[in-house]
Amino acid sequence: MHCDLIIRDATILDGTGAARSRGDVGVTGDRIVGMGDLGAVTADRDVPAQGRAVAPGFIDAHTHDDRAVLCGPACMMCKMSQGVTTVVVGNCGISLSPVRMAGRPIPPLDLLGDESWWVFDSFAEYAERLRTDPAPVNTVALIGHMSLRVEAMGGDVGRAATDREAEHMRRRLAEALAQGASGFSTGLYYGPSAEAPTQEVIAVAEALRAQRGLYVTHMRDEGAGVLQSIEETLRIGRDAGAPVVISHHKCAMPENYGRSAETLPAIEAGARAQSVGFDMYPYAAASTVLIPGRIREDVATKVTWSVPHPEMSGRMLADVAAEWGLTLHQAAERLQPAGAIYFQMDEADVRRILAHPRSMVGSDGLPHDEFPHPRLWGTFPRVLGHYARDLSLFSLETAVHKMTGGTAEVFGLRDRGVIRVGAYADLVLFDPATVRDAADFDQPTRPSEGILETWVNGQSAYTQGGATAARAGRVVTRNQP
Ligand code: ZN
Ligand code: CU
Repeated sequence: MHCDLIIRDATILDGTGAARSRGDVGVTGDRIVGMGDLGAVTADRDVPAQGRAVAPGFIDAHTHDDRAVLCGPACMMCKMSQGVTTVVVGNCGISLSPVRMAGRPIPPLDLLGDESWWVFDSFAEYAERLRTDPAPVNTVALIGHMSLRVEAMGGDVGRAATDREAEHMRRRLAEALAQGASGFSTGLYYGPSAEAPTQEVIAVAEALRAQRGLYVTHMRDEGAGVLQSIEETLRIGRDAGAPVVISHHKCAMPENYGRSAETLPAIEAGARAQSVGFDMYPYAAASTVLIPGRIREDVATKVTWSVPHPEMSGRMLADVAAEWGLTLHQAAERLQPAGAIYFQMDEADVRRILAHPRSMVGSDGLPHDEFPHPRLWGTFPRVLGHYARDLSLFSLETAVHKMTGGTAEVFGLRDRGVIRVGAYADLVLFDPATVRDAADFDQPTRPSEGILETWVNGQSAYTQGGATAARAGRVVTRNQP
């Protein structure tokens, strides 16, 4: 036997959560073809791991990389430098297809960019672009409720959809699923989508039933009403016959600190009757668009971008307001359109949620922000280094499982997220002793340390020096080979 590549003498973390083993991993073409002792096997390229860790490439369960995957390896450095080989796009109700925009999209759709990026009338056109001009990582796509609403309701989204409009959305979603999308996402927290009653969401989500597509949601309320929101989410999943994923699970705002002790049992109770998962990012601060009506005195807020005042990116809103002689609310209005980081979670909740056996890791990074939340560059190494190694919140095996095999199972990504013969060769080589996130709230774009190399579908995509020229990423569809 002869392989294209053999990673020799590695500590193998296979993604299933099973105990590590020591050995070699052989790759030919896009697949893993051998494991264990490959001493008698030759290869075009030998990589001596010297005991360092090899794991399945990390799956970023929650991203807003819809546009980043279209603009070449440099755009994906934030993820590849963390060992990520697959990203799930189209979260929080926001997807770049199937809708064209004539003018600047309403927030938070504008997280993905101005109208020049909104040119995909169908998911097929978006997927075709990814096939002719591939990304360096694999892409799993969800279709966003907000994007569907803008198209179906002619931009008049500050109300519930009519039955005809909901039926139009359902058909557009069914079409996109047939073209390779993997599910449906909502962002019921956000202004215009908050006007959508549960019944509207169920009517659209009905399209998921036939293909067992996923229902993924940034819930209506992650604060005082978080338990009711979990109930609403479970109901939508049941009524549409769809497995559900709760996005970036958290208990937001100081008066709700500690309530993950209630939400996690509620999720577990739901999981006894239906399929439920959740993702989270390992930080006690959130980030999205800057919403003036939701600014609070007791939640420190940092500006991440502003169209009229780009010079304020990276400044605390309180300092900007003081400088301008305005209230926080007035300053937030003057910065519009803009983005922000909100320091609105409790570290004890973050740890309890992350440690829960059902949690998956998703960065929720915002790749186009001028001064992004550090989760964009640091999420995965932070779980491996800070939470698993330094704080011993769980084992390295468990940490890897939350970013690979566990996620692949929930999303139905066949032959990915695990190291075994026959699986796709999405791999990461890292040093468990030194891996760490370097990005923080002051220097948010510092690349992580300790990630040595990643391979996507058998091709080297990232080495410590940077991205390679490879663009081996594919569009990956739930439950399809
Ligand atoms: Zn969200
Ligand atoms: Cu999000």
